[in-house]
Amino acid sequence: MTKSKPKLTVSRKLPRTVEQRLLADYDVTLNADDTIFTADQLLERAQGADALLVTPTEKCTSDFIANLPETIKIIATFSVGYDHIDVNAATAAGLTVTNTPDVLTDATADIALLLLLGAARGAYWGDKMVRTDTWGAWSPTGPLGIEFSGKKLGILGMGRIGQAVADRARAFNMEIHYSKRTRLPEELEKGAIYHENVESLLAQSQFLSINCASTPETHKLLNRENIALMPDGAVVVNSARGDIIDDDALIEALKSGKVAAAGLDVFTGEPNIDPRYRSLDNAFLLPHLGSATLETREAMGMRAVDNLDAFFNNRTPGDLVTPA
Ligand code: DGY
Repeated sequence: MTKSKPKLTVSRKLPRTVEQRLLADYDVTLNADDTIFTADQLLERAQGADALLVTPTEKCTSDFIANLPETIKIIATFSVGYDHIDVNAATAAGLTVTNTPDVLTDATADIALLLLLGAARGAYWGDKMVRTDTWGAWSPTGPLGIEFSGKKLGILGMGRIGQAVADRARAFNMEIHYSKRTRLPEELEKGAIYHENVESLLAQSQFLSINCASTPETHKLLNRENIALMPDGAVVVNSARGDIIDDDALIEALKSGKVAAAGLDVFTGEPNIDPRYRSLDNAFLLPHLGSATLETREAMGMRAVDNLDAFFNNRTPGDLVTPA
C-alpha cells in the first residue's frame, strides 16, 4: 500500500523549484497569487492539513496557534528568524517548529556590508543628486561621505551572520569588536575584540552592525541612552529586525548628527515604516532584502522542505526551534 502524502498548506508563493518539490512530495495547497492572508484566512486554508509552511509575514501568535486545527503538527518557517511565531505557545500545544539557518548567512552579510558602505558613502543622497539633476560640479570639499576602511566596527550579535559580516569587514582593515552572550572560541573570534556588555561595545562602535535576534531582551536595545554612549558621528546599520531599534531615538540622533548615517533593511511594522525615515537624506533604506537572491530563497525553501521531510519520515528535523 502506498503511503498517503502529508497535507501541507503554504502561506506565500515560493520559488518555482521549491514548489515543484512540494507538488511531487506533498498534498500541497500553494498560494499562486501570493496573497497575504489574514490569520483567519490562513486558519481556514489550514483546515485538514498536517503542516504549515509560513514566512515572516504570517504572525503565528498564541491566539493563532490556539485556533489551528488539531491535525497540524508542524510549522516550518521559511526564515532564520522566528520572532513571528510564539514558540512557547507552539511548544505548549505540542507543535514542532523549524527555521532555515545557515543558507542565508552570506546573502544577509552581503546586505549588511551594502548598508554600511551605502550609509557611510552617501548611496542614497548621491543617487538622488544624479536623478534630480542637482549634482553640480565635482568639488574637492563636498559633499563628502564617511571613511569606512580602517575604522572600528561593532557587531551586536556575533552568530553566523555577525561572523560573516566580520569576515567581510576584515577585507576593509576594520578593527572588529563584538558582543554576544558567550565569548566565541579563538578560532571563530579571529582577533575580534569581545565585549561582555552592550554598553562597552557601543562606546567603541564608530560603525555598528546589528545582527542579533529579536527577543524580549533585545527589543528597543538601541535606545536613547545607548546611542548616547556611541562615538559622535557613528554609523548604525540594521539587517536583523526593526524592533531592536527605538525609532524615536534613532531619528532624533540622525537629525542631530549624533548618528551621522543609518542603513536600514528592516523596520518596526514593515512595510509601514515610521514615515520620518523617508525624509532623512542620511538614512539609506532597503525593503528587507537581506536574503533576497534567487539562490538563497531557493536554498531557504529546500531547507524548510528538508525539515518537513524529516518530520514526516520520523526523523528529527535538522533545524528545530522547539525542544526535541
Ligand atoms: C529571515 O530569514 O529571518 C530573514 O529576515 C528573511 O530575509
